[in-house]
Amino acid sequence: MRPLRRVLIAATVAVVLLCAAGVAGVVWTFNSRTVSTAGSVEFVHALPVPPLAPSTVDGEGRRVFELRARAGRHDFGDRTADTWGFNGAYLGPTLRASRGEQVLVNVHNELDEETTVHWHGMHLPARMDGGPHQMVPAGTSWHPTWTVDQPAATLWYHPHPHGETARHVYRGLAGMFIVDDPATSVAQLPNRYGVDDVPVIVQDKRFSGNGNLRESGPLFSSVGLLGDTIVVNGATAPYLDVTTERVRLRVLNASNARVFDFGFADDREFALVGTDGGLLGQPYRMKRVMLSPGERAEIVVDVRPGERTVLRSFPPDLGADTWTERLNGGEDTFDVLQLRAADRLEERPELPSRLVDTPRLDPREAAETRQFTLSGTRINGDRMDMDRIDLTVTKGTTEVWEVTSQEALQHNFHIHDVQFQVIDVDGAPPPPHLSGWKDTVYLRPNTPVRLIARFADHADPDMPYMYHCHILYHEDEGMMGQFVVVEPGQKAGTPGGDHGGGHGGGHRGHG
Ligand code: C2O
Ligand code: CU
Ligand code: CU
Repeated sequence: MRPLRRVLIAATVAVVLLCAAGVAGVVWTFNSRTVSTAGSVEFVHALPVPPLAPSTVDGEGRRVFELRARAGRHDFGDRTADTWGFNGAYLGPTLRASRGEQVLVNVHNELDEETTVHWHGMHLPARMDGGPHQMVPAGTSWHPTWTVDQPAATLWYHPHPHGETARHVYRGLAGMFIVDDPATSVAQLPNRYGVDDVPVIVQDKRFSGNGNLRESGPLFSSVGLLGDTIVVNGATAPYLDVTTERVRLRVLNASNARVFDFGFADDREFALVGTDGGLLGQPYRMKRVMLSPGERAEIVVDVRPGERTVLRSFPPDLGADTWTERLNGGEDTFDVLQLRAADRLEERPELPSRLVDTPRLDPREAAETRQFTLSGTRINGDRMDMDRIDLTVTKGTTEVWEVTSQEALQHNFHIHDVQFQVIDVDGAPPPPHLSGWKDTVYLRPNTPVRLIARFADHADPDMPYMYHCHILYHEDEGMMGQFVVVEPGQKAGTPGGDHGGGHGGGHRGHG
């Protein structure tokens, strides 16, 4: 054989082999991507309930909490990993305060790197919001204080350092913040914390061979890390002993990227009573409720003596094409939490047919209507820029925001400072789980969602609030923008600038 010919044959063989390997790799990746733990979880760990954070009342009548972000090692139940937590090795205590109270949270950063603590869902001044402009350097403290002024709701807190949020949350920095308000709560709802009113913080994790958390996303994922193991309140394979006829679960999706569609393995109905920003107008009997990262649902489940049932996440309908669904969790099923009813159950009242009346905001009263388009890792074509204020909202006005994801991929949309109402989804009235106060909403591809919010107070031309996709990898990649709330006639200033409010909000000191 002539040398040239031999080289050609060898080259052809090499190319064919490479192609075959490539195709095999893609096929393997595609086929191996679906995860299901349905029916295969042995629920062996009692669900840990985050402790209620102790608080004191200071000389000025403020309710004072302490949060210490620190590194530690956490036992997930079947493995121990290096983690971060507030006041412990993983997650944080539940903060609880009432409407009208002034709170002060002393946030101490005992990590080796800077972080922030953001109060997700809270209506408060931008300087206290804990976004990327309120960095807390390692070894220092931050002292945000504000007056709680919103309906009873299940909120949460987590870091928000620009470009690093995914890693900080994934390592374990997150906790619940429950707001109480007699005027917008319902006495018949189960309300004994840890007994019949239970936080359910759901996250997906991926562990490496040595038991530590794996932090990088898989190949071909455009949403960042998707785990194959569910942890609830920091425990794998958890069960909850239920001692009452009905139990209220405050479910928070604190995952980085995963969308859950919660229901029960036996397909029983439950009552959806609350969403991100408070209770709904009525309990809705449902079999499923979908939560994208950052969203919350309060559900009430009835149990019979001695029975067991499993809270499961069914494959969520992300609204994307098959390929995208498969690679991004759209076909995955997880057993999340087993409920074990005691042989004798304490009685609980029936749920009332009405819960909380909330007037609908009226789009005809909107001072502005704005469009937001999500594509790539940008909003309206822009990547997040800490030095650019994207929009200026006038205090005391109502605005309509029309948000559309132009992508085959999953995105959602979160606004700081306000709770909004969903006017419509693709022109249709909102379904029950979008009928109440929300701060985060899932975006199906090419499906416009119209939101309406009132920006009642807290003007500050220099300190922006954020809006962003809450898929943390997207947020870190820049799918985020900034708005300021100003007095009528006032102009936006310089982000992070200081007009006498104290640098970065709250005051800083070594802790
Ligand atoms: Cu839960 Cu801007 O975040
Ligand atoms: Cu937030
Ligand atoms: Cu996104």
